Formats: sequence, C-alpha cells, structure tokens
Amino acid sequence: MRFPRELVEEIRSRNDIVELIGSYVNLKRAGANYNGLCPYHSEKSPSFTVFPATQSFYCFGCGAGGDAVTFIMRSENLDYPEAVELLAKRAGITITSDEKEQGGISKRRIYEMNLAAAKYFRNCLFDQKLGRVGMEYLSEKRRLSPAVIKHFGLGFAPESFGSLTDHMHKQGFTDEELIVGFLCGKSQKTGRAYDYFRNRVIFPIINTSGDIIAFGGRVMDDSKPKYLNSSDTPGFKKSRNLFALNYAKNHCSERLILCEGYMDVIALHAAGFENAVATLGTALTQEQARMMAKYTKEVVISYDSDEAGQAATRKAVRMLSEVGLDVKILRMEGAKDPDEYIKKYGADSFRRLLDASRTGFEFKLESTLQKYNLSVAQDKIKASAEMCEYISEEWSSAARDVYIGATAARLSISPEGLKNDVELLRKKKIKSFNEKTSQQARLGAMGVGDKINSDGIKNIKAKAAEEAVIGLLLTYDEYRDAIIRGKAELSVNDFVSEFHARVFDKIIELQRENQFDFSLLGEFFTPDEMGRLQGLEQKRRVLTENGMQVFLQCVATVKEEKISSSSEANGIDEIKRLLEQKRNANK
Ligand code: UTP
Ligand code: MN
Repeated sequence: MRFPRELVEEIRSRNDIVELIGSYVNLKRAGANYNGLCPYHSEKSPSFTVFPATQSFYCFGCGAGGDAVTFIMRSENLDYPEAVELLAKRAGITITSDEKEQGGISKRRIYEMNLAAAKYFRNCLFDQKLGRVGMEYLSEKRRLSPAVIKHFGLGFAPESFGSLTDHMHKQGFTDEELIVGFLCGKSQKTGRAYDYFRNRVIFPIINTSGDIIAFGGRVMDDSKPKYLNSSDTPGFKKSRNLFALNYAKNHCSERLILCEGYMDVIALHAAGFENAVATLGTALTQEQARMMAKYTKEVVISYDSDEAGQAATRKAVRMLSEVGLDVKILRMEGAKDPDEYIKKYGADSFRRLLDASRTGFEFKLESTLQKYNLSVAQDKIKASAEMCEYISEEWSSAARDVYIGATAARLSISPEGLKNDVELLRKKKIKSFNEKTSQQARLGAMGVGDKINSDGIKNIKAKAAEEAVIGLLLTYDEYRDAIIRGKAELSVNDFVSEFHARVFDKIIELQRENQFDFSLLGEFFTPDEMGRLQGLEQKRRVLTENGMQVFLQCVATVKEEKISSSSEANGIDEIKRLLEQKRNANK
C-alpha cells in the first residue's frame, strides 16, 4: 500500500511536530528549536532536538531522527502504514480506500475539466437571472469592478446539486473524474456525483503556467464554512501554489506582498499593487517560500492585524528568511486586513504603509516591547533576555551591533551590557553545536561499527561524498531535478555503499513520479535508517555552502571514488586469482 504524497503532507501539516513530540517528551524552547531528553537513549543533558521549521527531530546523541511518522513508528512501535493512520486519526482525517491509491486521472485532464468548469461558473455569474446574487455581492458588497471580476475569472456556482454536474457530463467528463478533481462530491447513497460548490462566488486558482488548478468558493453571508476549497488533486498541491502568482510574477522585480486572503489579493491588484499573492488557506510552507525566492528578493508580509495574523506573521518571517529572502512586515492599524484598509483609507495610504514596513528585527522588538511592562524591573530583564536570544541568532556581526544599539535605546539599558549578554549566548550556542557535531563526527566519520551503512568503512572519502549528495538530494528540490533532467549524471551503480544506492534509487523514483517527500521514505526504510537520513539532511541545513556547484562537485567525487574503489577491488580479485592458480599448481 502506498499513500499519495499530498495525503501524507496534509497529515503532517495537521500534526505539528512540536505539539506531537511535546506530548511524549518534555521540550524546552532553545532559539528557533526545542530541546529535550532523548526518549530513545538514556542521557542527562538534552541532545534530542525538534526543528519546527522542517517539522523534524534529531538526537545528536544516538542519531535517532525523522519526521512525525518516524517518531510515532519508534514511540508506538508501529509500522509505516499504521503510524500514518494513527496520525491521520489524531488530526481527524479519514483515509478512504480511494486515497490509498491514485485515481489514475492525469493532470492535463484535471486542467481541462477545471477550464470547462471555470467557463461555466463565469457564465453563471454574468447571467442576469442565475448569477444576480453573486454579481450583487461582488460588485456592491465587495465593490469589485467588472474589469477586475473578469481579470480574476471570478464566477458563481448556483444553488443546485446538479447544474455543474449536468453541464460537465455534456462536455464528456465522467462522475469519477469530477469527484477526483474535487468539482463534485460523491453521494453516499447512490455513489453518483453532485455539485460540490453551491451558492458560492468562485475564485479560480491559476498556476504560473496559466492552468486552472483548483477553486475556492465563498459564501455570500456569514454562514460557515466561509470558503470551500478544492482539496489536493493530481494537478493541485495547496502547499506548492500561491494565489495570483500567475500575475504577480510579472510585477515583482522589487518585491512581493504576501497576504492571507484571496479578497486581500484582489483588492490590492485592483488598487495597483499587482505584486500581491496569498497562500491557499494554509500556513505558509517552505515550498512556497522557495517559490517566492525564485521570483524576487524581498517579501512584505501583510497578514491580518488580529492575533492569529500576527502569530502567522512570526512563522512566515522565519520561513522566508530561511530561504534567503529579505523580509519586511507591514503594520496596519484601523483595519483588519489589506482589503478593508484600502476600502477605508485608499491606495495611497497603503503605499505609505508599504514604504514604512519594518524589518523582522523591528517587528520582533515592537512585539517584545508590547508584551512587557517596562516599568517593572523583572519584565525589563525578560524583554532584554528575549531580544538577546533573537539577536544571538543573527550571523552578521554588523547586524548584531545595529540590533543591540536599537534594543538598548528602546529598553534604556547600556549597549555594552547587552552586547556582553549576546556574545556570551552566541559562544554557548556555538560551543554546544560544535560539541554535538564533533561527537556525531567521532561516532560516524570512520564508519566503524556502522550497522546502517556497513560499506562506509570501505572507502571513507566515498562515504563522505555520498553522504553529502544524499543530504543535498533530501533537502533541495533543484538537486533532485538536476538528476532527473540529466544536468547531473549519477546512477545507483555509482555508489560504493549499498545503503546509499538504495536511498538514491528511492529518492529519484519518487521525484520522477512527482511524489518526493521525506515522509514517504518512511515506508521503505527502517526508523534507524530514517534517523540516519534525517542526520544527513540536518548536516546540509547547518552548512552554508550548499549550491549547485557544491552538489556537482560531490557528484563527481562519488563517481571517482566508486571507480577507484572497484579498481582496488579488482586488484584484490586479481591477486586472489593468482594465488588460487599458484595453489592449484602446487597440488
Ligand atoms: P479570511 O477569513 O481572512 O478571508 O481567510 P478573506 O479572503 O479575507 O475573505 P473576506 O475578506 O472575509 O471575504 C483568509 C484565507 O483563508 C482561507 C482562504 O484562502 C481565505 O482567503 N480560508 C478562510 C479557508 O480556506 N476557509 C475558510 O473557511 C476561511
Ligand atoms: Mn481577511
């Protein structure tokens, strides 16, 4: 049995790893990550680390590691499918038998189907009678002009269980296709398809190649749920797309604006900010962050001004910085979201907010200052400690100096004292990181007694290069792509280690099927092996020199070492053969 990637992604996104592991292990925040005592080996100081950004864990002491699925496999002693099912249950997701295998319907077909449906929805919206309520809502309540409605291809789904289904049947689409494409639900009683979107205004979601990949449908009153969205289909991954990026990609040489809602994006584009995009009803993913980094250098986060929006902002700041983007945060007062703000105060005001948007540091400083009452000494100390923690994570010493100056001024404390605290904290962090990695290095570098990769000891240089290649392949899409597209030539036969060859084979197979996800490897490798892979990935993440050049160099070394390893082996074989001959001759 094989779970589709999107299901595993969904399950993982709904089981936050910090919360999950936190229910087994006492975790303490340590900078961006969490530490605790390893549940898999006995230890007195915590070397078990949980990484929220990558939703993974790794123990620097014993090498256990992986994702939520691996954690459950180990902790509950389950096999892969059982662990996936447990996590699904925990998140309230039911796995239907359909989902255990792919529907067998191509992306192309889904896109064709969506195009036909979008045309239907649009015709309904522009129909004087059928679409009147929808048009009134969009043009009067939301004040969208006909041009904007057309630009975004908005539509209307009438109050009916069968009108879209009937129309699509006439266009040659089957019930099964409509159900797999999430345009229709499946009737429990008859098993037939019925319209999924009813009495809603429709927002088509379009990828950067111009295909309609999904729909969002909004109610026109306060009923719930506010939006219905197509779930992931063979042609659509929520975590890999951004609303309006198809337009914004042509207007973002300077920056992108990231919002929460479809309506925010539409209002911004209508007001001349055509560089606005939004996630699709889920928290920002690393894939989306990387996508943005492909198109621009700077992202201004303009989430809702409520508490939830601010919490999401903090997460997004980290996610976007991690992929190397310059991040700024727009502060909005007097309106709940950009849509409301523009309606109330106009586009010029919004532009001023945009120009005044703050950096991640300024945002952190403001929100820390707000949290504490600075006239209370204890609070001031806490605020200072929190800022020290933040500043100590900054790698540029010039930036640290600037941050220290600004923080000291706002807290009215001496910059020297603050600087001391920051540098002490940094030293501590660097030391503990070095201890952890050197301990790991001592254990692993020689490959002595390595049960997972028992070939490692044969050729240490090959082992190191292979580990780098595997680590990079696990971490970044572009390297997997480079292999598939033949930009880097490497095959299973180029590995000295049987373990690495097996891992390589699986990664590439999944990537070819557009199904690569770290979690899916859990089906094919033991929890111990997964721990090793997590370690290799972790190692690449902390190293800064990850680039295509580095990757290609490692690939070349892997191949060279394989050749030299096998010629040595041939040499040995040759000697053995000669000895054998000699022995036979002596008989
Ligand atoms: P919001 O509730 O902020 O919606 O949710 P909005 O787009 O600003 O809409 P208006 O202005 O209230 O009409 C932000 C985003 O979260 C997703 C949608 O993608 C929405 O645009 N969402 C929200 C859902 O997927 N389902 C929901 O029930 C609510
Ligand atoms: Mn909103």
